[in-house]
Amino acid sequence: MKPEFQATFQHDVEAVDQYLYSNGYISKSDDEEQKVVDAEYYALTAGGKRIRPVLCIEFYKLFGGKGDVTEIASCLELMHTFSLIHDDMPEMDNDDMRRGKPSVHCAYGVDTALLAGDGLAILPFEIISDKALSGDISPETAMKLINCLSKAAGNQGMIMGQQLDLISEGRQVDLKFLKRMSSLKTGCILSASAQFGAILVGTDEENVKKAAEYAENIGLAFQIVDDILDITGSENEFGKPIGSDEKRSKDTYATIMGIDSAYKEAKRYTESAVAAISSINGSELLCELAYDLLNRKH
Ligand code: IPE
Ligand code: IPE
Ligand code: MG
Ligand code: MG
Ligand code: MG
Repeated sequence: MKPEFQATFQHDVEAVDQYLYSNGYISKSDDEEQKVVDAEYYALTAGGKRIRPVLCIEFYKLFGGKGDVTEIASCLELMHTFSLIHDDMPEMDNDDMRRGKPSVHCAYGVDTALLAGDGLAILPFEIISDKALSGDISPETAMKLINCLSKAAGNQGMIMGQQLDLISEGRQVDLKFLKRMSSLKTGCILSASAQFGAILVGTDEENVKKAAEYAENIGLAFQIVDDILDITGSENEFGKPIGSDEKRSKDTYATIMGIDSAYKEAKRYTESAVAAISSINGSELLCELAYDLLNRKH
């Protein structure tokens, strides 16, 4: 990424981090009764690339937004982190490391991890509705955000994708199935993130579509790269166990196509993502971000 884009990206990440570290909803606590909130704070502050909130912020700016949307953008990180906590639990992928630290169920127990995931899944709706009640956003905007996020995370979105992922364990699946599963489990929340930016500006349908098309394509590329790194990555850089998919006997793009062809497939999706928005003035940062995500090591 060009240095000026890198600086903007870093600025967005820092704003999100600042909100996640210090807000009126979740904080560190030694109080036994606050254990679940402490676990949520632990998961959120363990690290993370913050790609989803950055997409919201950058699409908001791309479509002409001038305000600070960090708080609403961070809601996407809350929902995403919920999905990671549950994804790591023994009943799902059974992974004991996340973001370079012990997974939440290892640090706090499976019971509290379950509740921490639940808490983080619900909190975005509290924050968005609080924003509407305090007059920071209109009730209509809040309704659109809530509708978008609940659809993306719910039974027709990420949850459905995770269900397909569970079904695939120990079975041979084809590329068509993998595409559907990856779109749902990973693409949907990424797509909601881009759409959040568009909704917050109140841009036209055409732009919402372009944002969604970009994000759906980077979603597919993102999951393919994740599957490749699950084989070729280094645990230190990746921050989570290598070989998780093989351990659970999961077919992925990397196992079915081979690493090189899978990378080429991810590159094609990245190019489609870029093509969806490249005609929009000011889209260079998002175009470069797509390529950085393709070539990431973590
Ligand atoms: C990991 O997402 C889960 C997938 C969708 C593959 P990220 O790679 O964005 O994880 P963090 O948020 O940076 O930890
Ligand atoms: C999970 O996919 C996507 C989610 C919705 C959490 P993975 O199971 O491959 O994600 P990682 O590799 O554990 O981050
Ligand atoms: Mg999983
Ligand atoms: Mg996993
Ligand atoms: Mg993975």
